[in-house]
Amino acid sequence: MTDRELIDASKAAQENAYTPYSNFKVGAALLCRDGSVYSGCNIENATYGATNCAERTAVFKAVSEGKRDFTAIAITSSGGGLTFPCGICRQVLAEFSPEIRILLEDKNGGICEFKLSELLPHSFSL
Ligand code: THU
Repeated sequence: MTDRELIDASKAAQENAYTPYSNFKVGAALLCRDGSVYSGCNIENATYGATNCAERTAVFKAVSEGKRDFTAIAITSSGGGLTFPCGICRQVLAEFSPEIRILLEDKNGGICEFKLSELLPHSFSL
């Protein structure tokens, strides 16, 4: 699975986004160390607060299937340009893989890479 393939998988995941309130579609593709990939989309809710981000959808799908070791996550959106994971999703990713690579696509189609530890230094831990 190349970085480009993971970005493309995140774009495909956008197709299932349920976004009647924001119409902002996000897709994520999470690469596990064993090579498996779990995708996710954002799922909105009339209460707004019960909305689930694409990244957490992907993480929760993977964890519920027994996967906890992640090497990369690609995130794209209908907004175009860099779509950074929100603070809650950063903390959820840090729970399992603090050094995960975060792959975003810029408006020219280039891939930008960040380390989670760079985006969320001093994450909370018990
Ligand atoms: N959203 C995500 O899916 N991931 C993020 O990291 C930030 C925001 C979604 C939630 C909501 O459905 C829409 O984007 C607008 O906030």
